[in-house]
Amino acid sequence: MSKKQHQIDASILANTHLQGEYFRLDLYAPEIARDARPGQFIHLQVPDLEHRILRRPFSIFDTDPQSGRLSIVYKTVGEGTFKLSTCVAGQNVNLIGPLGIGFTEPTGNQRSILVAGGFGCAATFLFAKRAAIKPVVLIGGRSSIDILLQDEYKALGCDLRISTDDGTMGHKGLVTDLLKVALREMPGALVASCGPNPMLKAVGNIDENAEISLEQPMCCGVGACFACVIKLKDDNDDGWRFARSCMEGPVFKAHKVWWD
Ligand SMILES: Cc1cc2nc3c(=O)[nH]c(=O)nc-3n(C[C@H](O)[C@H](O)[C@H](O)COP(=O)(O)OP(=O)(O)OC[C@H]3O[C@@H](n4cnc5c(N)ncnc54)[C@H](O)[C@@H]3O)c2cc1C
Ligand code: FES
Repeated sequence: MSKKQHQIDASILANTHLQGEYFRLDLYAPEIARDARPGQFIHLQVPDLEHRILRRPFSIFDTDPQSGRLSIVYKTVGEGTFKLSTCVAGQNVNLIGPLGIGFTEPTGNQRSILVAGGFGCAATFLFAKRAAIKPVVLIGGRSSIDILLQDEYKALGCDLRISTDDGTMGHKGLVTDLLKVALREMPGALVASCGPNPMLKAVGNIDENAEISLEQPMCCGVGACFACVIKLKDDNDDGWRFARSCMEGPVFKAHKVWWD
């Protein structure tokens, strides 16, 4: 484990139901809160799940290095996340982090656009928080219940634009429709994105220099098991090689990803 990665028992500060199947978990994890960068993740051992020993990866949503708070936003999809949703303040959770390579952060006056699908907006929040010029933030979901963290992004001063597949909030259609508009307004802006793979592929088709965060299923999270491999174009772009998403990612340049 590198000096910047820590394995700790973090105490739960709060485990809050947000809406629908989404929760926010606040942890006291000062070492990870101090060292975390936008787009990195933690690997979390869900307590009292002895028959399933594998950790679960979650993007680092927010940190407060002064108080030592580290927060994630999660969706209940299976046994681990359902169990996590029953955890209470004061319980300890074992974490490894911060892990992976995150987003390139904008420099100086560089403009940026964040494109997020569902809980992908958790992975891009620290980027917005640390950016000197606040990004345009595009959040898409199936329905209004899937649109998260609006207040948090607005509080940062971001220009927030929403899309839903069913038209229950914002633009009726795809979040990539909003990306095309935003790029016409801000040509050359840095694009960073997290969400489902079809959305990330579409983002890459619009801007091949976009940075996309892949949520590839993981086992060890630290480079040992190769469960998380994806195909990356090789240096000459005429073939491909395997890359471990937990080590070389989860953030990749869109044009380097080899989609099957
Ligand atoms: C780098 C990274 C960052 C992530 N960040 C977040 C986050 O911020 N918030 C969040 O809610 N989830 C995030 N995930 C996904 C999260 O890790 C899984 O949803 C979780 O591990 C599922 O555990 P489970 O035991 O509840 O479900 P399981 O019982 O393991 O699986 C239940 C269902 O969830 C699906 N699933 C499992 N893993 C993933 C995955 N990696 N991506 C998509 N679907 C999956 C399975 O295919 C299955 O259908 C992230 C994943 C990665 C790799
Ligand atoms: S999850 Fe084990 S190598 Fe990436």
